[in-house]
Amino acid sequence: MMDRFLELYRLGKTYPTPQGPAVIVEEFTTIIREGEFVCLIGHSGCGKSTVLNMVAGLIDRTVGDVVLAGKITTDPGPDRGVVFQSPNLLPWMTALENVLLGVQQVYPHATPTRTA
Ligand SMILES: Nc1ncnc2c1ncn2[C@@H]1O[C@H](COP(=O)(O)OP(=O)(O)O)[C@@H](O)[C@H]1O
Ligand SMILES: [Mg+2]
Repeated sequence: MMDRFLELYRLGKTYPTPQGPAVIVEEFTTIIREGEFVCLIGHSGCGKSTVLNMVAGLIDRTVGDVVLAGKITTDPGPDRGVVFQSPNLLPWMTALENVLLGVQQVYPHATPTRTA
């Protein structure tokens, strides 16, 4: 068991909005042990999903680091699963990119095959 399995260091997310930059997550640091069960609790809109999406690698971090099992992580990977609150496609990706997200992670060396 790793004492430092998931490490978040001064994680931050700022979204551009028509009213200017919106700081949604700021200076979030935590260390989670392997096997530990953790709940993120906060009011609607406080940034819980934003943090989870950064850990999953589904959205970019603005600042800070996500370290998983000792390695800085920036992309999605089959070592992290996400159960969305509703059946979901990632709206900022095309339909094809949504499909390829999983395929490329699990079968990075698969040969592209086309049918007529
Ligand atoms: N792509 C985006 N652009 C601008 N603001 C966003 C975007 N995504 C989320 N937000 C805002 O960030 C805040 C946190 O959202 P979210 O992480 O989904 O909150 P929670 O999961 O805690 O309810 C909300 O105010 C939401 O409107
Ligand atoms: Mg949420």
